[in-house]
This record gives sequence, C-alpha cells and structure tokens, in this order.
Amino acid sequence: SNRYAFVVASNRLPVDRVVDEDGTEGWRHSPGGLVTALEPVMRANDGAWVGWVGQPDVTVEPFDNEGIHIVPVPLSADDVQEYYEGFSNDTLWPLYHDVIEHPSYHRDWWNAYKRVNQRFAEQIAEIVEQDGIVWVQDYQLQLVPALLRALRPDLTIGFFNHIPFPPVGIYAQLPWRAQILDGLLGADVIGFQRQDDASDFLRAVRHIKGYTTKGSTVDVPVDDPQAPRSRKGITVRHVEARHFPISIDAESFEEIARRPEVQQRAKEIRDGLGNPTTVLLGVDRLDYTKGIRHRIKAFGELVEDGRLAVEDAALIQVASPSRERVDTYRMLRDEIELTVGRINGDLGVIGHQPISYLHHGYPREEMVALYLAADIMLVTALRDGMNLVAKEYVASRFDNDGVLILSEFAGAADELKQAVIVNPHDIGALKDSIQRAIEMPRRERSTRMRALRKRVRDNDVARWSRSFLEALDRHAPRSAQID
Ligand code: G6P
Repeated sequence: SNRYAFVVASNRLPVDRVVDEDGTEGWRHSPGGLVTALEPVMRANDGAWVGWVGQPDVTVEPFDNEGIHIVPVPLSADDVQEYYEGFSNDTLWPLYHDVIEHPSYHRDWWNAYKRVNQRFAEQIAEIVEQDGIVWVQDYQLQLVPALLRALRPDLTIGFFNHIPFPPVGIYAQLPWRAQILDGLLGADVIGFQRQDDASDFLRAVRHIKGYTTKGSTVDVPVDDPQAPRSRKGITVRHVEARHFPISIDAESFEEIARRPEVQQRAKEIRDGLGNPTTVLLGVDRLDYTKGIRHRIKAFGELVEDGRLAVEDAALIQVASPSRERVDTYRMLRDEIELTVGRINGDLGVIGHQPISYLHHGYPREEMVALYLAADIMLVTALRDGMNLVAKEYVASRFDNDGVLILSEFAGAADELKQAVIVNPHDIGALKDSIQRAIEMPRRERSTRMRALRKRVRDNDVARWSRSFLEALDRHAPRSAQID
C-alpha cells in the first residue's frame, strides 16, 4: 500500500460523496473554511488526506481527487450520532464557544469519541512514511496526537484548533478535561487562531495538568529515556502552543471578483432586489455562534424605528444548512425563520420584502457576486475561531468599496482593525454601527477597505500553512522536510 511523507487528517474530507438519481457516485467539494484553507497546501506537498466522507455506513477505497490522495475513514450510524453530532457538536462545540448553548455531557458520547479518534490514529499510522509529518485538524480529533504518538513515536505531529479554546473556568466543566489535554499534548506543535486561545490553553495545562510552561513551550513529562532532562531531573518533551491566524486564498477571490460575468451577476442581484440604496449581507453556516438573530433584530428595529426606509434597504441572509440532526440547530432554524417571517410580514410591502432569507449553500462565484452586491457586510458572531467570511468579503472588494461590520468576538477582529468593530450583544450599538456604515463617506470606506485588503493579501492562507509547517519542521528530524 502507498505511504506518504505528509498526511493531513480532519473529521470531514475536502470532498463529499454525492449519489445522483440514477445511482452514479460522484464527489463534490464539502463546505467549511477548513477545507478551503488546506487544499492549496495539499496540492503543493503531494500529501494524503485522511477523513470521513460525510455519510454514515459508507466504505470507500482510497482514491485521488484533483491531485489530492483521499483516504476515507468509515463512520457507522452510531459513530455519527455519538462522536460527530454528540460529543463533537453537542459537547465540545458549545463548550468551546463560550457556552452560548448548554453543552451536554454523556459518557457514551465520550466513549465514541475515543473509539473514533483511535480509528483515525490507526489509519494515519498505516499510511505515513518513517519520520513522516502529520497535521491533525480541529476539535473533533483532539485525542489523535497522543494516540498516534503511541503507535508511531517516529512521527512529527502538528495539531491546529480552528475554533476558540475556552478560558479555563469554562473548560474545567468538561468531565474529560485532563484526557483531552493529554491527547493534544501528544503533538509537537499545537496551533490556535488567537493569542488568547493559546494563553487559555497554556493556563489549562498548568492548572489542570500541573505542567510547567515557559513562554509558549510546555514541558510534558515522559518515560522516554532519550528525551532531554530538565533542571528538576524529570524527563520532558517540549510542546509548543502558539497562535497562527488562518486565512483564505485572497488572490483567487479577487480573480473571481474581477470576472465580468461575476460583476454582471452582482448587478442582477441588486436589480432583483429593486435597486435599494443599501444592500446588507450576512453569510453563515446556520449556527447559534454566528449571531444571526442579533443582526436580524437590529435590522428590523432600524426599519421599525423609521431610521431606515423599507424601500431603501434590503438584507440578504444566506444561512447554509448545518448539523441539522442536532436539536439546538433545529431549534435555531425555527427561531430564525420565525423572526424573518415576522419582520417581513410586519414591515414588508407588496413587491418588497426587507429580508431575503436563503437556506442554501452556493458556489464560490455566486458568493463573490453577493459580496460585490453588498454595501455592508454583517459579521456579528457571538464567538468565532476566525470567521473567513469577513476575509472573503474584503478580498473580493477590489473596488475598495463596501463596509465590514465585524464582531469583536470573532478571531478576525484581532487582525481586521479597520472594520467597524461591534459588540453584537449590544443591539443598540449594532444599530448605530449599521447607521454609521450607511452614512460613511466614500473616502473613509475606501481608506478602510484598502487597509483591510492589504492585511488579508499579506496574510493569506499560504502564509498561514507555511508558518505552521515551519514551526513543525523545527521539531522534525533532518530527513523530514515539507514545502
Ligand atoms: C467549522 C469547523 C470545521 C467544520 C466546519 C463545518 O468551520 O471548524 O471543523 O468542518 O465548521 O461543519 P461540519 O460539522 O459540517 O463539518
């Protein structure tokens, strides 16, 4: 069987399995920022990608897709329910996002999480070369680094957490808090989105594990007689925990935005809305972390107060379907659809609905056309690891126009300082920010957008992966190097 010097693992593969009506199988790009971010790195390194095909009880042999070697890990219906919907998305997801919703703690889910993480570790161990490099992605696979190290001590292992890492006071709720830290500390380098995430992780390691940290380095006690001895005489491994803010392929968004047919489509979108003075846009997975209700409420109140004439403004809200079998997501969908229906019913006039709500995903070209059509982009997440939509909007605006309203609780706010920064919990402030964005002079819009664009272009996804892999390379034996 084939072996690879570089392996990436994530819960979801970069492709989703789709079956046509006539029964033919095909592969489609799967949603999510993670996939978008890693594809270019994989192509450049001829790496293999280990992950789930996105459906229960499907066994697929490894195959190549557009230059990426795909190695599927099967999940049973029980695995999907307990490990993916349960522990990953009903325990860890709310816990790591400031407990916006209540995390559920179930021992069965934890057992499934351990079992699936073990399966991933075994699959990776089988396909990676001697002294190879493995990069594990995100909260669904936090036990993989230590499980993999136990199987293959020769490997250099990186882990990147795409979502926030919570303050220790919240993290400490987790009944398996110590085991998760042990899992992560099997890596050589642990990456986070923000400086605060890395600091919160290091604090958790000190408080819960009692390990010593110096700067971004953790001393992890080990049995290995060949590891260096610290001053106290305990054998330790050095693990690095730092922030590496993720980004997008900025150039490709600009390239799409410059296509005449995409600009034409942007015009059609505005025409279709009846050419209002101001088009506002929200683009999210339908998730309770995104603050969709807050922004809809702020917009509705502006119209209701008469600060915004209904004919002058349109809000487009794209909410792509996500994790629909998890109860909190179902309830959220109902609440959002109720609110949208009420606002449109109360404030709409014949031929003009203030909110265009779309429960679909769209291809990238259509997304870029929407970005070009939007005078104001609303990113009002209550908590978000990074938020790549904010960066996509900026990268697409080659005309240096448009205003980004950005939540201070999104990781992107650490970098995108020239956005209009807002606390989405403060509906009054959110309304004022929208009004300010509407009234902002062209000169100021352009000055801000130029600065934002420079930031996103200079710190694109290629730079993100390069800096992470360079940090990882410093822990690798001489023979293992990646581009
Ligand atoms: C976020 C997570 C990813 C995840 C994506 C889509 O971006 O960080 O790990 O893949 O959401 O969610 P899903 O549950 O559909 O994979």
